[in-house]
Amino acid sequence: MNKIKELSSYLELGSHVADIVEHTLTLPEPKLILPTGSTPLSLYKELVSRQLDWSTTTTYNLDEYVDNTIQDQSYRYFMMENLFKHINMNDDNIYFPGDTAVWPDLSYGTEVDLCLLGIGGNGHIAFNEPGSSFDSETRMVDLNEETIKDNSRFFPTIDEVPTQAVTMGLKPIMSSKKIVLMANGKHKKDILEQAMYGNITEDIPASILQNHKNVKVYYSD
Ligand code: PGA
Repeated sequence: MNKIKELSSYLELGSHVADIVEHTLTLPEPKLILPTGSTPLSLYKELVSRQLDWSTTTTYNLDEYVDNTIQDQSYRYFMMENLFKHINMNDDNIYFPGDTAVWPDLSYGTEVDLCLLGIGGNGHIAFNEPGSSFDSETRMVDLNEETIKDNSRFFPTIDEVPTQAVTMGLKPIMSSKKIVLMANGKHKKDILEQAMYGNITEDIPASILQNHKNVKVYYSD
């Protein structure tokens, strides 16, 4: 059973997970899966401040909106602003689902050293919404109502929130060698506990992580 480790603050969550990333970057040609959202912001800030060597690293983002008309809300833009433009990543080693070179026929997670995840209020990981098959591959999905409502805080109006995305599937996520799930805020505690200690069910996509051999789960309130 996975144990949720509670950290003392959101900053501590960022610096704790940054230690794990820093260690991963010492591997030869490290491969990481990265999330967007509000949760990883303290991590990315901490990573930028550490001035690590990312020159041989390859990153795969978990998801990207489809038909997004507000470019500065794209996940690529988010990653550029919060991480990539501040570190020495090689642009050729940055991948997003939807990039023709890697989607739809690739299981991203193969040989990935470290997969970082957030969790949605409905238990989703990436945009694998409740009901997603545990065997799901990277694909285009419809976002559900709760997710659209959650994401509307980043858009001028809810009507501008994209209703579709390309998401890495649960299968490639699970094939990563190590997974770190991060959650911040009391509003995430209940779903996190259901996912980690409750039934393993497609109704709560994050519950699949209980089946992974090398998962760490960190929470700050
Ligand atoms: P958040 O989103 O980090 O903005 O809370 C997490 C998620 O929906 O996966």
